[in-house]
Amino acid sequence: MISTHLLARSRYEQAAIAVFPGSLDASRAVAAEIASLIRQRQAEKRGVVLGLATGSTPVSLYAELVRLHREEGLSFANVTTFNLDEYYPLPPDHVQSYRSFMRRHLFDHVDLDPARTHLPSGTVAKGEVDTHCAAYEAAIRAAGGIDFQILGIGRTGHIGFNEPGSPRHSLTRLVTLDPLTRRDAAGDFGGIDATPRHALTMGVRSILDARRVVLMAWGQHKAEIVRTAIEGEVNAHVSASFLQEHPAALFVLDVAAAGALTRNRTPWLIGSLEEQGLAWDERMTRRAILWLSQLRQKPILKLTDDDYNEAGLQDLLRIHGSAYETNLVGFYQMQHTITGWPGGRNPQKSKPGDPPVRPLRASSAEVFPKRVLLLSPHPDDDVISMGGTLCRLVDQGHEVHIAYEVSGAGAVSDEAVWRLLAFVRDSGLADSAQTARLQSLAAGLSEGAPLAETADLLRWKGLMRRHEAISAARVCGVPEKQLHFLDLPLYSAAPRSRSYGPTDVRIMGGVLAQLQPHLIYAAGDLDDPHGTHRLCLHVLRDALAEASTAQAPWLAASELWLYRGAWADWPLDEIDLAVPLSPQEVLRRRRAIFRHETQKDQALFLGEDRREFWQRTEDRSRRLAQAYNALGLAEYEAIEAFKRYAPEDLLKSAAF
Ligand code: F6R
Repeated sequence: MISTHLLARSRYEQAAIAVFPGSLDASRAVAAEIASLIRQRQAEKRGVVLGLATGSTPVSLYAELVRLHREEGLSFANVTTFNLDEYYPLPPDHVQSYRSFMRRHLFDHVDLDPARTHLPSGTVAKGEVDTHCAAYEAAIRAAGGIDFQILGIGRTGHIGFNEPGSPRHSLTRLVTLDPLTRRDAAGDFGGIDATPRHALTMGVRSILDARRVVLMAWGQHKAEIVRTAIEGEVNAHVSASFLQEHPAALFVLDVAAAGALTRNRTPWLIGSLEEQGLAWDERMTRRAILWLSQLRQKPILKLTDDDYNEAGLQDLLRIHGSAYETNLVGFYQMQHTITGWPGGRNPQKSKPGDPPVRPLRASSAEVFPKRVLLLSPHPDDDVISMGGTLCRLVDQGHEVHIAYEVSGAGAVSDEAVWRLLAFVRDSGLADSAQTARLQSLAAGLSEGAPLAETADLLRWKGLMRRHEAISAARVCGVPEKQLHFLDLPLYSAAPRSRSYGPTDVRIMGGVLAQLQPHLIYAAGDLDDPHGTHRLCLHVLRDALAEASTAQAPWLAASELWLYRGAWADWPLDEIDLAVPLSPQEVLRRRRAIFRHETQKDQALFLGEDRREFWQRTEDRSRRLAQAYNALGLAEYEAIEAFKRYAPEDLLKSAAF
């Protein structure tokens, strides 16, 4: 069993939780519990019944089970499996069927008897669905019931595909997928139109009947729904909340997915910080003051003793003496995050008496100009997330390089390729043989049916994005010779099956060694529904770890800043650097984002928010400026925000 010291509950939590620094450690712990159950049953000459899930969450768990099989002799000969669900209708050999997923990630790599692996069938005739579902339930019972059920959680709070409204007593049945669930799966199916509308899923009751249930969740995009499931009421709107009623259910979380729990977000509401092993350090103090300012809707400097007392923050008054003193601590911390010189000032242009460029380390503030490496997971994350800061760094004389980590080909529509082919065909640039070939290719693309993802088509799509990135970088003043297209191989799998390997790390290590950057900007955006940003950060972490082991001299002089992408900004209390933008800079950033024309074609990766990226970016950075202003700080047009990570901290923290 996962060790109990990880399970201490707060009074807000209605279910047992275990929080791990990162998803890999967490997956290893869950795999260890499963392995010990399998071995114990083998010793007793009994079988084990596992309930299995698919999706991005269990990929690392299955990888660890496969490793245990290969390297530590774990046999699955006594194991029977039942999967939670299958899309309907969908043939089992479809690359996105859950049967194919299970084969890819587990079944084909261990000694499981295929006859003992069960999934609902995506091909059963409509009229036979009910009989099929009843037979599935009967098969689970006949196998002795599920011993260990693995679950992920959807952003609708679903377990299996028990979407909002699924009752406690529901059994295996045909369901209609929630629009949010379909959008999250759209990347796998190459578009929302090709994404199934229905699925067969085990019911809430079928899941709760399991003897042990472990729900895993990784990443910040799951944090809110995880909190609702654990701290909210038990009801059918969030089917994961029913786990609160299961005597042996456990939520296994990484730090990011646990981030919205009261114990993490506002721990002073739970009780004394010391008793929770926490302290009123700078960060916690700032978090409480900002929370209070937002709660009371008052600028920081107007908070009174009564405000602190009534909100249970007497500790802060005791430590600092009065509201006045406490307010100043919070106010100056926020004030010192702001700088218009993200890379430090040009010493030749500095005047005596200029205030220090605060968020930068004193040692690095002296280096000018700096070599800057901006790591952009997709070809447009650079300008979407920090286009204003990018322009400033260039304008202020630094040598800025941008490395694009994946090709982004998956987010280009066939239609966009057709436009280019048709242009070349009609332009007279091609000779007659080439024109005939273009004619037939363009005809294939214009018929509307999605083309098979041929290597050529993917390469063209990648090239289109590459040229958009070059064009956008030009708006920001970064020459093509300072752009690096890494094409990390991690991108070659379908979005929710991606993992990274040594080649990705080697490529990243290569660019770091070549540039030896003083400043690295990377996406610390854990809200990306497809996890590519998170994987890219893992790759960076491992490459930095290798550089550190090799004692690369540049590493000690290097600073790492994490930006957030299109999905969410840093919470105010985590911001270390805030770069204000003028109205002109906001417009220039918009022009750069506009260069990513293929991204206007389909809102595939936009998630719930249907606005285009430039709108989301402007809205997000304006809101951040307003939030600073509401705290009583200066009023800016827009702000881009960053969190500092000393490279050695990123190495220590498995949180990513
Ligand atoms: C998968 C399943 C779903 C997923 C959930 C989370 O068999 O039933 O409940 O566990 O949608 O998906 P990911 O892990 O891709 O975020």
